[in-house]
Amino acid sequence: MDKLLIKQEHAVYYLKDNETEEILYGGAAGGGKSALGCLWLIEMCQTYPGSRWLMGRSKLKTLKETTLNTFFELASRLKITKQFVYNDQSHTINWKNGSQILLKDLFHYPSDPEYDRLGSLEICGAFIDECNQVSYKAWQVVGSRIRYKLNEFGITPKQLGTCNPAKNWTYKEFFKPNREGLLGKYDEKNPSWEKSRFIKALPTDNPHLPQKYLDKLLRMDKNSRERLYYGNWEYDDDPATLIDTDSIADYFNPIHIQGVGVKYMTIDVARKGKDKTVFRIWHGWLCIARESIPKSGLDVVVARAKILQQKHGISISNTVADEDGVGSGVVDFLKCSGFVNNSSPLEVMEGGVYIKPNFDNLKSQCSIKMAEMITNRQAGEMCDDSEVQEATSEEMEQVKTKDIDKDSKQGIIPKDRVKELIGRSPDEWDSIMMRYWFALRKVRGATLLRVGERSV
Ligand SMILES: Nc1ncnc2c1ncn2[C@@H]1O[C@H](COP(=O)(O)OP(=O)(O)O)[C@@H](O)[C@H]1O
Ligand SMILES: [Mg+2]
Repeated sequence: MDKLLIKQEHAVYYLKDNETEEILYGGAAGGGKSALGCLWLIEMCQTYPGSRWLMGRSKLKTLKETTLNTFFELASRLKITKQFVYNDQSHTINWKNGSQILLKDLFHYPSDPEYDRLGSLEICGAFIDECNQVSYKAWQVVGSRIRYKLNEFGITPKQLGTCNPAKNWTYKEFFKPNREGLLGKYDEKNPSWEKSRFIKALPTDNPHLPQKYLDKLLRMDKNSRERLYYGNWEYDDDPATLIDTDSIADYFNPIHIQGVGVKYMTIDVARKGKDKTVFRIWHGWLCIARESIPKSGLDVVVARAKILQQKHGISISNTVADEDGVGSGVVDFLKCSGFVNNSSPLEVMEGGVYIKPNFDNLKSQCSIKMAEMITNRQAGEMCDDSEVQEATSEEMEQVKTKDIDKDSKQGIIPKDRVKELIGRSPDEWDSIMMRYWFALRKVRGATLLRVGERSV
């Protein structure tokens, strides 16, 4: 076996000291993240006979296809494959010396929001690969289970996470405080920071990577290149960006927004270029629920919408669905309001008269105005699903003005371009920007809600 990479050695230092309890390693592709976690677990299992460790990932299936393979690869290079037996039924690696590694699925299932399935677990330490894909709740619950035979072995509870840059809890709890020099120091508001460390490892820190792999990373779109090659967590400092990182973080931590007044539902129906239909329920400017269903028939969407209307007490007139493609059928059957992305912007009252504002279409108008609500801290969302948060944040970062100089009309970069940048269909933003439509529509000749006004 080759020696550890220098960055891996840094991590191992913290994995062995008597202080550190939480370590985040990585922040780019190919920096030896999975290898580090596997090597650590191997050494721990060998050193402490009868110890028990967790190897986790968002989905067990992915864990088996990726991290576990790295584990077997390393074990065979280290010539230690005879020291353990893998049991695919119980998802465990059982060492001959009595140690055990439990493979765990840490996905946030709505049926088990508190991770009760981990309730009776007792482990000596945990490695979560690509931990930005699990919720902060999962991370914390796993941490709370680290107490097995710690005194007997005389070890400190350790939790190792690895990830690529992501604007979610890994950014807030590790990357940002580390950049600000706050990790490893006592912080009254963030007690976990004192015993946390972040180690940045880039592909260029790993001499074992084939040059072709590095070349490929460099050929990716700017966003992916910045994140995965350069390990840039702030990859989006484009001046055309409308919603900054802090605003996004506050949007998902809406302690400053109250759910008051009228309830609304926005529906973005799956059609060309979209994978799923997304429903968002709003109480005033606070999104209190979000659901999605895979691309499906009209009847399924309509039935789901009716259930949600009933459940949350939302009137037909306070429901809006996008009217392009399949959506028009939804509008017909639900008899709700229709939203046409490409239609003219709606008139707004200015100085007592209605004027036609200077947007290229309705979607641009609602996107730009909704972005304003978010940066003004006037809209928020309650969401404990980190995958939804991550996806939504990623799309919010792509809400950008286009051709600022060329055109006198304000517009945003189109969906196809966003799709290229994030490498998947943007399924979340439309159901958010559509909320603004209710602030623009005219009710009995008057605009019901104006910018910044609370609903009544
Ligand atoms: N210490 C090491 N010695 C030898 N090869 C290593 C070492 N660390 C990582 N590698 C190799 O580098 C490649 C990338 O490592 P991996 O852990 O899969 O990266 P990541 O999970 O960060 O994408 C793999 O082929 C792995 O076997
Ligand atoms: Mg990996």
